[in-house]
Amino acid sequence: MKPAVRVTVTGAAGNIAYSLLFKIAAGEMLGDDQPIILQLVEIPQAMGALRGVAMELEDCAFPLLQQVSIHDNPEEGFKGVHYALLVGARPRGPGMERKDLLEANAAIFSGQGKALNDFANPDVRVLVVGNPANTNALIASRNAPDLSPSQFTAMTRLDHQRAKGILANRLGVTVNEVKGVTIWGNHSATQFPDLHHANVHGEPVLSLIDGAWYKGQYISLIQKRGAAIINARGASSAASAAQAAINHMRSWALGTDDDWVSMAIPSDGSYGVATGIIYSFPVRCNYGRYEIVQGLELNEFSRQQMKETEQELLAEMADVDHLLPPETAARMTDPFGRAGLVNDIDEECLRAGSIVVKTDRIC
Ligand SMILES: NC(=O)c1ccc[n+]([C@@H]2O[C@H](COP(=O)([O-])OP(=O)(O)OC[C@H]3O[C@@H](n4cnc5c(N)ncnc54)[C@H](O)[C@@H]3O)[C@@H](O)[C@H]2O)c1
Repeated sequence: MKPAVRVTVTGAAGNIAYSLLFKIAAGEMLGDDQPIILQLVEIPQAMGALRGVAMELEDCAFPLLQQVSIHDNPEEGFKGVHYALLVGARPRGPGMERKDLLEANAAIFSGQGKALNDFANPDVRVLVVGNPANTNALIASRNAPDLSPSQFTAMTRLDHQRAKGILANRLGVTVNEVKGVTIWGNHSATQFPDLHHANVHGEPVLSLIDGAWYKGQYISLIQKRGAAIINARGASSAASAAQAAINHMRSWALGTDDDWVSMAIPSDGSYGVATGIIYSFPVRCNYGRYEIVQGLELNEFSRQQMKETEQELLAEMADVDHLLPPETAARMTDPFGRAGLVNDIDEECLRAGSIVVKTDRIC
């Protein structure tokens, strides 16, 4: 039996968590041979409801679930954690401007970044789901000076899966037959769902669909899918968000197979994207690491779409600048610590007479 790993979920009494926790405990995230200790974090006012969720988890008698603890503060909730899923966030209240929402969440995620830095396992992998997810992940990362920026990611997997599902439906194929879809940029209405490298059994998707439908309808359908679900359901997407969080962490921990996925990660300048922000890229994962898929050709239309969503993230970063410690700014220009690392290894190995194999892996 493998040793148990610690998984923290914040916002654990909320809607997404009500699907997410039971999937984690059932082994859907880390595999059906991986015992789990769940550490659930909420605000003090929600501890009653959280106690009820913990009771239900207990009542499921999940064979992999070794322990459940509940916490009203991140310091205790993040103790020794290996996988942290930051779902809890402040929702937009009446009359609240976008900037107010950013500020309210910035305060939460700077505190959580510090707590992760001080109490989590040094190898912790962090997924931010709570919106504005990309910028919240940036704030957490910038407030965790002892952790690598590469340990902080934000969720665009739901957008990725929406893009695959809606396309598969249009083409009359299954989602497994659609490969090479990418979400670039922010988890917001500026994201760019890119089908230029997508294919079905090797056939380019753009030769199978009407270009006018792609540019005129499909892109905005994916960008505004979250709002459409709120209008239809009277509540925001929860089960699909939970499934996407499971899939994001599972890919990161256990690897991707014959297709890439989209993850919002610190930009290392690939494809000309500004460094300093958390931007969604196409990635492949193995051995618990992710790497950006390189070498995709971008046309003028794609570049313009990617720029637009990059500009939004840069503006969000400027809005929360006062919460970003200046001393953690420089490492965002080389978020995977490649520059120093590869050279050090090279020199050390050359001195030892070894052959150096560069894999260009991240984190
Ligand atoms: N990235 C994505 O694709 C995606 C998709 C759907 C929803 N979301 C976002 O996920 C977040 C959660 O959605 P939900 O439907 O579960 O919302 P919800 O309101 O049902 O639950 C959020 C929970 O977070 C808790 N919370 C608030 N501040 C907290 C803090 N500082 N520490 C711990 N817990 C805290 C609240 O008490 C609440 O129980 C929202 O921000 C939502 O916009 C993101």
